[in-house]
Amino acid sequence: MTDTVNRPSLAELLDRMAGLEREALPAIAAAADPEELERLRIRYLGRTAGLLSGVSGSLGLLPAGDRPAAGAAFARATAAIRARLDERAAAVAATRRAAAPPLDLTMPGRAVWQGGRHPVTVVIDEVAAIFRELGFTIALGPEAESEWYNFTALNFPPDHPALDLHDTLYLESGALLRTHTSPVQVRTLQAYPPPVRVLVPGNAYRRDFFDASHAPMFVQIEGLAIDEGVSFVDLKATLTHFARRFFGAARTRFRPSFFPFTEPSAEMDVECRICGGAGCRTCKLTGWTEILGCGMVHPAVLRSAGVDAERYTGWAFGMGPARVAQQRYDIPDIRELYDSDVRVLAALAR
Ligand code: PHE
Repeated sequence: MTDTVNRPSLAELLDRMAGLEREALPAIAAAADPEELERLRIRYLGRTAGLLSGVSGSLGLLPAGDRPAAGAAFARATAAIRARLDERAAAVAATRRAAAPPLDLTMPGRAVWQGGRHPVTVVIDEVAAIFRELGFTIALGPEAESEWYNFTALNFPPDHPALDLHDTLYLESGALLRTHTSPVQVRTLQAYPPPVRVLVPGNAYRRDFFDASHAPMFVQIEGLAIDEGVSFVDLKATLTHFARRFFGAARTRFRPSFFPFTEPSAEMDVECRICGGAGCRTCKLTGWTEILGCGMVHPAVLRSAGVDAERYTGWAFGMGPARVAQQRYDIPDIRELYDSDVRVLAALAR
């Protein structure tokens, strides 16, 4: 078998190209939508399987003398089909535009939600800014803690109910998820000699009942101020100053309380802004919402951290920024802050 069998003649190729063009042009003229036009473009001009492109492979098989004529005919047919495709595409687009309803330029633009800071983050930043003015810096500590930092060093007696499995989430390693940010008090005092003023934002975990004002993971902000001659007056004045700065005219009150690591201890309430003090579900009908626990740091805690408890005194607090955000943004159910429902968060971020 000789290869002449597969060699097309010039006349044959010209004929094939003319045939393809004759077939393509009416098909293009009849195409009614861009998808159909695209199918035709691929059918005739497609690089790998296009019918016309297929012919180009044969051009090189022609005798050298015939190639210029064949090449010119190929270029012309390709250009003709391409031009007709473009023409038809423009016509189809124009028809579509004409059929479309007219543009209403008075229609309001569509708002694009670009994300925003979570309300609890906003609160943490604002709290930090107010305390920064008072000389506090930020300190951080681990969320997986030892029992010693979380409880023992903080003067919890070994049989304290908070150690109970019902409140504390223990890790397999024997460590636990810190139940408050207070262990960072001890870590900070071990690392820095007084005077110390730090603010510690961070996550804490409790196997708490999940209700309108409790969540199993929550954010806390710990505050700690230790120096010579610091008294309960400093505590009350500083936290009252904070509340005025943060909530404006809202009323506050201190109630006596108990924590193993502070003595005396108190809780600070702000007047419930959701009901204006009348009593509602969020404030459990009391008209007040507790936003922090506080007290004078117990000498036993100072001693655990290696601080001279005769020379230094100080106070600490633990604030729930989600509670604060709940009050600030009038959120009846604290779970809304943790549900990550973008509609709720977007409304709050406004
Ligand atoms: N750690 C306490 C709690 O989680 C709050 C607190 C911090 C109280 C510091 C007093 C001093 O409830």
